[in-house]
Amino acid sequence: MTDALTPAQQAPQSSAGTRRRFGKVAVIGAGFYGSTTAQRLAEYDIFETVVLTDIIEGRPEGLALDINQSRPIEGFETKVVGQTTKPGGEGYEAIADSSIVIITAGVPRKPGMSRMDLLETNAKIVREVAENIAKHAPSAVVIVVSNPLDEMTALTQIATGFPKNRVMGQAGMLDTARFSHFVAEELGVPIAAVRTLTLGSHGDTMVPVPSQCFVTIDGVRRPLVELLPAEKIEELVTRTRNGGGEIVALLKTGSAYFAPSAAAARMARAIAEDSGRILPVCAWVDGEYDIHGVYLGVEAEIGAEGVRRVVTTPLTDSELAALREAAAAVAAKQADVAHL
Ligand code: LAC
Repeated sequence: MTDALTPAQQAPQSSAGTRRRFGKVAVIGAGFYGSTTAQRLAEYDIFETVVLTDIIEGRPEGLALDINQSRPIEGFETKVVGQTTKPGGEGYEAIADSSIVIITAGVPRKPGMSRMDLLETNAKIVREVAENIAKHAPSAVVIVVSNPLDEMTALTQIATGFPKNRVMGQAGMLDTARFSHFVAEELGVPIAAVRTLTLGSHGDTMVPVPSQCFVTIDGVRRPLVELLPAEKIEELVTRTRNGGGEIVALLKTGSAYFAPSAAAARMARAIAEDSGRILPVCAWVDGEYDIHGVYLGVEAEIGAEGVRRVVTTPLTDSELAALREAAAAVAAKQADVAHL
């Protein structure tokens, strides 16, 4: 007679319905990026709990209440828990046993700033967050989104002491999504027809990879380089490289969060589902492309343990040279962050 029961009556069987759920995911930082990420994760309806924390008293609690009140409308069972954290680390108990933690804490850029201008300010914030994650969620896979991204990812690995596969950064999915959007708009094709790729740093040495971009038209998969002239592709590459800055300049306060949060949430989902999906992420590279010992934007197979392996793709000589240049640039900065 279970079909006669209301969802509330079924509650003792499972407070979150009958579908298989993945426990707890935590989002540190309840700014636009963090709160939108928490919303997306909750709306997937695959987790028991999404924890959202912030240092601004009451903000995470208020946002969690707001997202929870959308549950009857959107029809998801995942519960969002908001928790203010204190400078001494009080409140971090809320993230205990999280299998995934997403670090969004830190300040965003202002118009005219580069991501690197945030280095010192965000390093202090991210280090403290990372230490608390190590203490309260020692088995978690960590996704870093704070900027400058490649450096904050490296710092998080150092400060948590976690194995390198359990710390990764979100940037490649976002940069790739921006590139795909620009290509789809330029060619006037559905977004689903476009496959692009962006590697390298989430900054000046970003490496969009036109040779690995394809567009399916009338069922035929065609290389982007055959569909657009080189100058037009270069224009889209430049716009992709400046994609975050373009939005910062328009917003005047704050930076992008809809596309960034979509990317971070998808990464968390791939980890939760142990999906084996190959995604562009900031991962520890040691040997691939003959690049050694650096967190860099590459494609990687993602599973429950984080990065299962870095996946290499054929590159042209100039793309490979640009990737090595990006690696050298971020390696130098990542060596500095260890002391911040
Ligand atoms: C961007 C920021 C989030 O690229 O890095 O929009």
